[in-house]
Amino acid sequence: MSDLKTIQLTDDVCMPTNHFGCAFGDWVGKTDFQGFRPELAWEALSLALDNGYRAFDGAHVYGTEAILGALLGQRFARGELKREELFVTTKLAHPAAPPHVNLSHLRTWDADAVEDVAQRVRDDFAKSLDELHLGYVDLTLIHWPGPFANQDLALARQARKTIWETFGEFLERGATRAIGVSNFSVAHLQQLAEDAPGIKPAVNQVELHPYCRDPELEAYCREQEIALVAYAPFASGAFGMLQDPVLSEIAAAHGVGVGQVVLRWHLQSGRAALPKTSKASRMRSNQDLFGFALDDAQLAAIDGLGAGEPRRTCPDPREIV
Ligand SMILES: NC(=O)c1ccc[n+]([C@@H]2O[C@H](COP(=O)([O-])OP(=O)(O)OC[C@H]3O[C@@H](n4cnc5c(N)ncnc54)[C@H](OP(=O)(O)O)[C@@H]3O)[C@@H](O)[C@H]2O)c1
Repeated sequence: MSDLKTIQLTDDVCMPTNHFGCAFGDWVGKTDFQGFRPELAWEALSLALDNGYRAFDGAHVYGTEAILGALLGQRFARGELKREELFVTTKLAHPAAPPHVNLSHLRTWDADAVEDVAQRVRDDFAKSLDELHLGYVDLTLIHWPGPFANQDLALARQARKTIWETFGEFLERGATRAIGVSNFSVAHLQQLAEDAPGIKPAVNQVELHPYCRDPELEAYCREQEIALVAYAPFASGAFGMLQDPVLSEIAAAHGVGVGQVVLRWHLQSGRAALPKTSKASRMRSNQDLFGFALDDAQLAAIDGLGAGEPRRTCPDPREIV
């Protein structure tokens, strides 16, 4: 029986189930500004390290890898931390964003606009390692299956195959300990298995919270032994989800916060989760998940909140060809 603290990805790689999310900004429309705010990472990531986080979910596009790298470097220098204690994830190949979203063109690209996709992926990966000041990462994911507006399936499949085979090179030379995907639908996973059968993704990182579930995808990943990682586990604070009466009632019954209930639901459902907060007290409570357990009726009640059309903070991966 798993202790819910880790998921075994491969013979050699054990992934923690609670990672600190390293994306800062607003992409759910709470402010006029739509985009990333990496400057917010300095204080939050420093606090997260002080409050015991050792697993970090980053991405080339977030612009926060240099900040995490600098903060880790200070702790390495003081002898307070060793590389082996950390689990660092990066994500590469983020498509170009709509014009109103403030994402750097240096960090986003569409495969049809890039001359040599494999070389672009190698260059972005090298930049991520440089910014992190690390020799290797623990997990590297394809951030999105393809451009948001592309309709050319053959081109999209070829690009995914090329990116995946390039990730295979990183794995081969130990620059990443495991590889996986993010925002992949069942169709994307099936196509990748056909097009590049050599290596199976260890992970699929997708939007997953009580208001956004995809039982078909969850079943497929379970059957294929692809670990599910829930991003935006609190729906990025949107939809009033953290005030939902069902969640509040369960939280009150256990004498814990709604955030703890949501994270415990993820863990007991066999998933890892990536909560992000700027507050030290929430960093502590978001890791304080092992003094209570949800019963089957409570798990089913939370599952039930996600029945029907998912409410998403990010685009629906099923609409990407
Ligand atoms: N693969 C992808 O395409 C993708 C997409 C989106 C996100 N992600 C990953 O997922 C991570 C988390 O996603 P996210 O930042 O969008 O959203 P999130 O973790 O679902 O929610 C963050 C929001 O919840 C609040 N919060 C945190 N802990 C709380 C608690 N215990 N009680 C009440 N409120 C709480 C935070 O506010 P305060 O800061 O004020 O506490 C913040 O407003 C990202 O950082 C990134 O690593 C991946």
